[in-house]
Amino acid sequence: MKTKGKVTGIISNMLTVAVDGPVAQNEICYISLGSDAAAGGPMPETGMAVQGGKMSEASMAATGSNISESGAASEKDKTYGSNATAGSGKVVSMMAEVIKVVGTTAYVQVFDSTRGLQVGAPVEFEGHMLEATLGPGIMTRIYDGLQNDLAAMEGVFLRRGEYNDPLDYDSHWDFTPMAGLKVGDTVVAGDWLGSVPEGWLDHKIMVPFKLSEPQGYRLSWIAPAGNYKITDTIAKVTSVADETQSEISMVQKWPVKVAVTAYKEKPRPQRTMETGFRAIDTFNPIAEGGTGFVPGPFGAGKTVLQHGISKQANADVIIFAACGERANEVVETFVEFPELDDPRTGRKLMERTIIIANTSNMPVAAREASVYTAMTIGEYYRAMGLKALLLADSTSRWAQALREMSNRLEELPGQDAFPMDLSAVISNFYARAGMVYLPGGQTGSVTFIGTVSPAGGNLKEPVTEATKKAAKCFYALSQGRADSKRYPAIDPLESYSKYLEYDEIVAYLNQHYGADWTARVQASKAMIQRGKEAYEQINILGDDGVPIEYHDRYWKSELFDFIILQQDSFDPTDANCPMERQVYMFEYVMGICEREFGFEGFEACQNYYKRLINELRQMNYSAFNGPGFQEHKAAVEQILAEHPMSSRA
Ligand SMILES: Nc1ncnc2c1ncn2[C@@H]1O[C@H](COP(=O)(O)OP(=O)(O)OP(=O)(O)O)[C@@H](O)[C@H]1O
Ligand SMILES: [Mg+2]
Repeated sequence: MKTKGKVTGIISNMLTVAVDGPVAQNEICYISLGSDAAAGGPMPETGMAVQGGKMSEASMAATGSNISESGAASEKDKTYGSNATAGSGKVVSMMAEVIKVVGTTAYVQVFDSTRGLQVGAPVEFEGHMLEATLGPGIMTRIYDGLQNDLAAMEGVFLRRGEYNDPLDYDSHWDFTPMAGLKVGDTVVAGDWLGSVPEGWLDHKIMVPFKLSEPQGYRLSWIAPAGNYKITDTIAKVTSVADETQSEISMVQKWPVKVAVTAYKEKPRPQRTMETGFRAIDTFNPIAEGGTGFVPGPFGAGKTVLQHGISKQANADVIIFAACGERANEVVETFVEFPELDDPRTGRKLMERTIIIANTSNMPVAAREASVYTAMTIGEYYRAMGLKALLLADSTSRWAQALREMSNRLEELPGQDAFPMDLSAVISNFYARAGMVYLPGGQTGSVTFIGTVSPAGGNLKEPVTEATKKAAKCFYALSQGRADSKRYPAIDPLESYSKYLEYDEIVAYLNQHYGADWTARVQASKAMIQRGKEAYEQINILGDDGVPIEYHDRYWKSELFDFIILQQDSFDPTDANCPMERQVYMFEYVMGICEREFGFEGFEACQNYYKRLINELRQMNYSAFNGPGFQEHKAAVEQILAEHPMSSRA
């Protein structure tokens, strides 16, 4: 029996509901709004889709996994699509999530506009949390935070109370059981049972994460190779502990707010992940399975940086959560991505990308869901032994959703009216990233990079502070750099990567990029610092008031800034700098910075470095080691030859 209730109070998106039975925190419920005529017809602000298309006919049949003993009973699932009749005079129900329970009162947050809703409206509780549907066919999709397939929407906007299927329940897939797997074998959650080809991807079909009995399950049946629907049973297992039987299909569900832990071990990250940005990979690298964040004031380049990373990063799967950002930017991504080629594989970038979009014009409540849904999808691919990269822009919008929720609950507010537990919520989320050893011994990873938009660029505000505690890499975009068009505006002195303190990562970097690589990078940071100090002295004492060495120091740091730290995301060549090229340019530029030139006056010094910078920049814009590159390098060498001084080193 489902718990039922009635709406007793409405405070914007939050409702109080008197319930007649048990309800759990984060449980999903549906609020009936009456017929769609009463509901006021389409609600343009509640959703967005990129292209026209038909609602899946299979919506009604959507049942998710048919594990019978694991608590994922399919008949309990009022899956997306059960309200697909909205707009045809039928009952409109809106999805909501329980955010607090006090006695027989449940506080629920509606993922939709509550316009027209009245006290007394009936509510039905689903007995499970908000779940992601995981199975073949997720790749390349564009979802909203509730995993509605935005490309499959009728017309341009989602109607209120309209939910559709995350996967195509009619599609057939070529299933091949895992070689060597036989009836009688013991399996555990996350073990690979077989696979289906999904484009380039060998999509693993796993023992569902919900089958989490530590003693495992005996495989009692496995389907022969063949063509199956995602809901067909492909394996049967018996619990070792209590002999209960479960049937496994190719699709499983997982509550988005709960971390997937179907792995053996989560060690510290051991290698770095290339992003193609010199200011990251060379200067402050992020680990594969690591975490990082990009705080930056309005217009400082957060979105451009994240889009660049999503295009260039050395990951198998990219999950991009557009969270509360401008709709036009998101639409841009939708339009741009399908066209772009993946420089690593030659395939289309979209083939490895999933977009979760909750734009600023969608209901705030659904934003929170979007980051969790994105993380869950990342964890699902990690369990397949892949490198998933999760990007969220912007996590501040997510925090704002938390703040609204907490304020409506009239909870005791923390700093700036954010909830008291903001820091814990953010930490728990970042902690879901990581590299893992899977039950079968393979590795997989989720790397997470979020942006934060601190109001007025104030890095002391609560979301930035809380994120700083949770994330290991800090890429602070500075207003000053953005104003002087020094992109990416990552501040070289404020930013850091804590992975440079990990022995494993240092060993990895030195092994791959040169025995003293990390020491050299450290030296370059010191050089930037000295340049900054010299600049301050010059500003105070005047060009003539300081020794010439000050000018030299300042210009060396400028040279390094212009050639290594700055990078034009809109130049087809400079946008993406592979590691081999980064190492080459770093060593080349450092070689120049280690020279003594012996200038006569500060003007000569300034002019000389400007000429060097111009030629070196042209090298960045030219194909690596191509004719243009060589030509500009020759020009640099010629300039260097004007000062045949012995190098310092
Ligand atoms: N790496 C870059 N190379 C060249 N131009 C850049 C780069 N980064 C940012 N820009 C310029 O800065 C503009 C603003 O960037 P972006 O939209 O990414 O800022 P944002 O921090 O996301 O802003 P908001 O806070 O409004 O979301 C871009 O339109 C572009 O002109
Ligand atoms: Mg932005």
